[in-house]
Amino acid sequence: MPAFGPRRQPSRRGSMADVPKDLLERITELEHLFTVDASKLKEVMNHFVKELEKGLSKEGGSIPMNPTWVMDYPDGHEEGTFLALDMGGTNLRVCEIILPKEKGEFEIIQSKYKMPEELKTGNSDELWEYIADCIQQFIEYHHEIEELEDMQEHIPLGFTFSYPATQEYIDHGILQRWTKGFDISGVEGKDVAELFENALKKRKLPIKLSALINDTTGTLIASHYTDETMQIGCIFGTGCNAAYMENVGSVPKIAHYNLPPEMPIAINCEYGAFDNEHVVLPRTPYDVIIDNDSPRPGQQSFEKMIAGLYLGELFRLVLVDLHDNKDCQVFENQDISKLRKAYTLDASFLSMIEEDPFENLSETGDLLQRVLGVKANKPELELCRRLAELIGTRAARLSACGVAAICKKKNIETCHVGADGSVFNKYPHFKARGALALREMLDWPKGTKDKVSILPAEDGSGVGAALIAALTIKRVKEGNLAGIRNLEGMK
Ligand code: BGC
Repeated sequence: MPAFGPRRQPSRRGSMADVPKDLLERITELEHLFTVDASKLKEVMNHFVKELEKGLSKEGGSIPMNPTWVMDYPDGHEEGTFLALDMGGTNLRVCEIILPKEKGEFEIIQSKYKMPEELKTGNSDELWEYIADCIQQFIEYHHEIEELEDMQEHIPLGFTFSYPATQEYIDHGILQRWTKGFDISGVEGKDVAELFENALKKRKLPIKLSALINDTTGTLIASHYTDETMQIGCIFGTGCNAAYMENVGSVPKIAHYNLPPEMPIAINCEYGAFDNEHVVLPRTPYDVIIDNDSPRPGQQSFEKMIAGLYLGELFRLVLVDLHDNKDCQVFENQDISKLRKAYTLDASFLSMIEEDPFENLSETGDLLQRVLGVKANKPELELCRRLAELIGTRAARLSACGVAAICKKKNIETCHVGADGSVFNKYPHFKARGALALREMLDWPKGTKDKVSILPAEDGSGVGAALIAALTIKRVKEGNLAGIRNLEGMK
């Protein structure tokens, strides 16, 4: 089965026949702004390779390239009971994972807790108290009190914290900066592992934080657990990023640890920060507005053009601009107050438009009416459809540049890439569009099979976190103590 289904790219250009000339001109302008052709993709990829290298160097660059102290792939025989905590963008998830002796197997129980919106811009204490409360609820629900009191050993926990963190040890991580619209005061520059453990201690829970990990590293490890050809773990969701396995000798910034150069170490690229200097990415005026109005202007330039959090906002900004534009009034004489509200649309809004199966785009019309209270005529519906396609296609094509750059940098000719995240899993045509972009960048001959395939990954933040906790404990037992701070409860 081909990895990405049919190659045909959806095109509805023929249906523009009844679009008036002024609107058609605006659509053509948007096409110029949002289309990334093959030569631009290659230019982005080549610059990306250099920036990945720079991030690993002593001087560093905008891409953090964070060493994770995850120093091996699982061999499939990891064993034990583990907890995993996943602090993603929307939910908090607590899991208990049993890894049996059998290769590649696992059992999982899990509970999800909604991250209250106000927490995302609240303060540090509120965040850690909330997280510790959720873990306590989970533990008390799934275990008898006596069982907890009798526990001789602490349950090892892998904490998936999906924000850039500098790690000197695997159970440590200084938050570099919040991303994905988070802005919780008092956490940047602090060790999140310590803040988390302090909140746990107060509750006297029998838990030991064994590893602090990123969702991409979890995805890499979990995917490799079930498919050994997986060499990159990616997230295309609210944010975007990737992790891959490097060798210590290629990471000059950790040379002072004097580790054997061939020793593997997973790198969390944090490549959402690619091109913060604005050298190569084809930014539109709408991308500039998104950046300026975000809590961290100047950061995560690449991410802001492609990740799920921003796709609906891009779409909204273009429509507002066209409405206010004197030459072509989209939604003329209508009340667009709902559309004027920032972040009122999310990526699923664009997905629904792209999925509208009807020639007359009646579902798109209903959607605009229901969510925004505007009545769109046929040409306006055509505009919305084309705009969603343009934004969704640009996101998929640029997303592929990061993957292609890692392959180039590591001289990987062929491999599987494990991917997760709402955009990858749910956005229509994202996979096919990304696959086509990879083909264009990596120059695979026409009619040949994909050499690099981006495939749905195993659950990185759950199973991946448990595997990394298990690998860390195994490593300590074997005497490889690189990046291990606290041996207590590890042996
Ligand atoms: C974060 C990364 C994360 C990615 C996907 C980005 O905003 O900085 O740590 O891997 O989102 O969740």
